[in-house]
Amino acid sequence: MSEHQGVLSVRSLSVSFGGLVALDRVDLDVAEGEIVGLIGPNGAGKSTLVNCAGGQLEPTSGSVALDGVPLTGKAPYRRARLGVGRTFQRVALFPELTVEAHLLAALRAGRQRPGRWSELVDHARPSAAEARQIDEMLGLVGLADQHDTQVTTLPLGACRLLEIARALIARPRVLLADEPSAGLDRRESAMLASVLAQLPAREIGVLLVEHDLGLVARVCDRVVVLDVGHVIAEGSFDGVMETAEVRRAYLGQGVA
Ligand SMILES: Nc1ncnc2c1ncn2[C@@H]1O[C@H](COP(=O)(O)OP(=O)(O)OP(=O)(O)O)[C@@H](O)[C@H]1O
Ligand SMILES: [Mg+2]
Repeated sequence: MSEHQGVLSVRSLSVSFGGLVALDRVDLDVAEGEIVGLIGPNGAGKSTLVNCAGGQLEPTSGSVALDGVPLTGKAPYRRARLGVGRTFQRVALFPELTVEAHLLAALRAGRQRPGRWSELVDHARPSAAEARQIDEMLGLVGLADQHDTQVTTLPLGACRLLEIARALIARPRVLLADEPSAGLDRRESAMLASVLAQLPAREIGVLLVEHDLGLVARVCDRVVVLDVGHVIAEGSFDGVMETAEVRRAYLGQGVA
């Protein structure tokens, strides 16, 4: 595997933190409209990989490309404009802003120079076109009646769905979702699954990092299993869960 293929392609990606090798020559592809599950025990390197794709972290070696365009060295906002959308393992929203303001800022950030997010929303109400996109996106994630809600008052599950809406409103080519179901109740998890299931039709590829293996089994086309920085299996969910390597990696975590 050397040429960059697919929407997102990761080639021979290695990350060391001092003496700790968090990723060791990892290859991974996400095709257009494909949902790839990235699973593995705690500390396997899943968030490290997502951070290398999102631009929050530069790898020690190896490369990440979007539609064949190398992302190395590009700041997160530039990757976002190229089509990398993401959510964070720890929710990263602005408590003082409303739900609508987050989406408005994300829409406008794609068109303006990077600056403080508040500057993107202070000046003007949404145009009719912006309002339509915001309505559509909040409807998609089940937050249609929450336009003016301040994020401080939103439950965690709604925050996670808002993060997904914020990533999607910028029309990404690929969505990197780092444990989006953490802290969601059953209704919110069902909403998350239904949102993810609609992304292939929008030609958005998804890299889904998840500990909820039920969700992975339901929505993923393919699964890649990481363990201490190595890909130990990939293929269908049922196929990888049957391999001895994966059962061993999950031993003691109550999964296999
Ligand atoms: N900034 C950092 N500095 C030092 N070590 C780090 C840093 N970030 C991650 N690590 C280490 O790298 C390894 C991989 O971490 P990572 O967060 O990618 O795992 P993960 O698969 O996302 O785990 P989890 O399922 O718990 O979120 C772990 O050993 C972690 O302690
Ligand atoms: Mg993680």
